[in-house]
Amino acid sequence: MLDEFHRNINYLRISVTDRCNLRCVYCIPAEGVKLMKHTDILSLEEIAEIVKVGVRWGIDKVRITGGEPLVRRNVVELVRMISSIKEIKDVSMTTNGILLSQFAPMLKEAGLQRVNISLDTLNPETFRTITRGGNIDEVFKGIRAARESELFPIKINCVIKDSSNEPDAVAVAEFCEKEKLQVRFIHEMDLHGGFFSTVEGGEGGHCSTCNRLRLTANGYIKPCLFNDLEYSTREIGIDEAFRLAFQNKPECGSINLHNEFNNIGG
Ligand code: 5AD
Ligand code: SF4
Repeated sequence: MLDEFHRNINYLRISVTDRCNLRCVYCIPAEGVKLMKHTDILSLEEIAEIVKVGVRWGIDKVRITGGEPLVRRNVVELVRMISSIKEIKDVSMTTNGILLSQFAPMLKEAGLQRVNISLDTLNPETFRTITRGGNIDEVFKGIRAARESELFPIKINCVIKDSSNEPDAVAVAEFCEKEKLQVRFIHEMDLHGGFFSTVEGGEGGHCSTCNRLRLTANGYIKPCLFNDLEYSTREIGIDEAFRLAFQNKPECGSINLHNEFNNIGG
């Protein structure tokens, strides 16, 4: 559906959990984050119902994110529920890849079309530092599994500090070239400081053509990553939450004092 600024909003990004099996320095502050109560987290049935209502508002493209979506119990079933909604043409997932070698075949079978995998460096030590303890070999295994399960096109999300010419980014770009993967460079953002930017090789951050809404793990529809606006599907009803999100989607992002990346999924 077109919003007030003639943007065709057809894309819903669903955060299925605020939990993660990594603790990336740019995502999770050193002191940790307050996690949602389990009872506040939407059930799979509630999420599927929200997608069905979204379809009536013109949603035909869904991405499953987190936190880390693969730590959500029964996420494969959720993929199956969403991909069986016939109006949904595109179902993808953003994952850190750690658990992907286990899940890739099941995800494919359940109807997942493609994955974006986060990889900021090729260096195991740097990876361990950025993720506060992660093992990069798991990600490489996950990438191989995604390829074997044909979750194409596989895209690599690489967070950069300054530019795609910095050494870690160059190494990731070379790896992607060699492995025939698409790479997207995402500038490290600060939601609270109001610093956001576009994605090189991707579509994020272009307000004038932004086609997305977000659903948080606890059931709020957010019209913009860089804005505090949010509408609770549980409190005001799913349809009304979509209506308000469409009606109030800002022309351009500004600042979000309320969310962290771990609970809106980048
Ligand atoms: N800036 C930019 N991207 C971020 N992500 C998490 N935190 C940030 C941040 N501060 C993105 C990463 C990761 C995805 C899950 O969220 O790209 O791949
Ligand atoms: Fe987890 Fe992704 Fe955040 Fe890293 S960036 S802590 S992998 S949600």
